[in-house]
Amino acid sequence: MSDMMFIFNFEKIFIMNIIITGAGRGIGFETAKLFSKMKGNRIIAVSRNITALQKISETIPRGKNNSSLYPFAVDLSKNEFEKDILKYVLDRFNKIDILINNAGILVNKTLQNLSEKDYDNIFNVNIKAPFLLTKALLPHFNNPSHIVNISSMGGFLGSVKFPGLSLYSASKGALAVFSECLAEEFKDQGISVNCLSLGSVQTEMLNEAFPNYKASQKPLDIAEFIVDFAINGNKYMNGKIIPVSLSTP
Ligand SMILES: NC(=O)c1ccc[n+]([C@@H]2O[C@H](COP(=O)([O-])OP(=O)(O)OC[C@H]3O[C@@H](n4cnc5c(N)ncnc54)[C@H](OP(=O)(O)O)[C@@H]3O)[C@@H](O)[C@H]2O)c1
Repeated sequence: MSDMMFIFNFEKIFIMNIIITGAGRGIGFETAKLFSKMKGNRIIAVSRNITALQKISETIPRGKNNSSLYPFAVDLSKNEFEKDILKYVLDRFNKIDILINNAGILVNKTLQNLSEKDYDNIFNVNIKAPFLLTKALLPHFNNPSHIVNISSMGGFLGSVKFPGLSLYSASKGALAVFSECLAEEFKDQGISVNCLSLGSVQTEMLNEAFPNYKASQKPLDIAEFIVDFAINGNKYMNGKIIPVSLSTP
C-alpha cells in the first residue's frame, strides 16, 4: 500500500526537516503539532506568539527517534525577517524537505473602508513574506522537497466571491499564481511547489472576520490533509492550485 492520502503512521520514521509559518494558532498550529507527533521530524514553527508551541515542544519526550519542535518568534512583516529565519534554520539543519507558507491575515472591509495601510499589512504577510522567505531558503532545499503555499478559495479563479474580501482574496490569488510560476522555475532542482486553496475552517481568523459563520471543518481536519499532502503530494503533482473546500467563505 502506498503512503498516499490520509494514512497516518506515527511509528514510521520519515526524518524530515520542516518549516511552517503561522504555526502559533489555528491551522498552522495543528499542522505543526501533527508533524511533531510523528517520528524523526525536525520542525521549525514560526509565529509572533509562540506560547502554545513552546508548551507542545516541552511535552515531546527526548529520544533519538522522537521529533523536535523548535518554536521561533518572528514577525513576517518586519524588515529582513527572512534573514533571522535563515540563520535559525541553518543552526539546526542544512537541508529543508518541506516549507509550508501558512501564515496569513484576513481583513474584512469593503473597498471604501480599506486603507493603504490595510493593503500593506495584507500583502506583506500573505504574499511578500512567502516571496522573501522562499527566496532566502532556496539554496538549502533537498532534492526532492516540497513547498506548500496555503491560499484560499477566495483567491481561486472563478470561485464564489464575498464582499469585504477583495484585498485578502487578491493577495491569495497572487500566492496561487506565484506557486505555479515557482514550480516551473524550480522543477529541475527537484523542488515541487503546490498551492492549497482552502475553504472555510473554524479558526480565530474566520471567527474574527465572520463572527456568526460556522464552518464545517475544524483546524485539525485540514491539518491532517496538509501534513499528508506536504509529505506525499509532490510525488503526484507540481505547480497545482488545489481547491480543498467543503464550504466558503
Ligand atoms: N480559516 C479559514 O477559514 C481559512 C480559509 C482559507 C484560507 N485560510 C488560510 O489558512 C492560513 C491559516 O489561517 P488560520 O485560519 O489558521 O488563521 P489564524 O488562526 O489567524 O492563524 C494565522 C497564523 O498566521 C500568523 N501570522 C499572522 N500575521 C503574522 C505575522 N506578521 N508574522 C508572523 N506570523 C503571523 C499568526 O500567528 P501570530 O499572530 O502568533 O503571529 C497565526 O499563527 C492563512 O493563510 C489563511 O489565509 C484560512
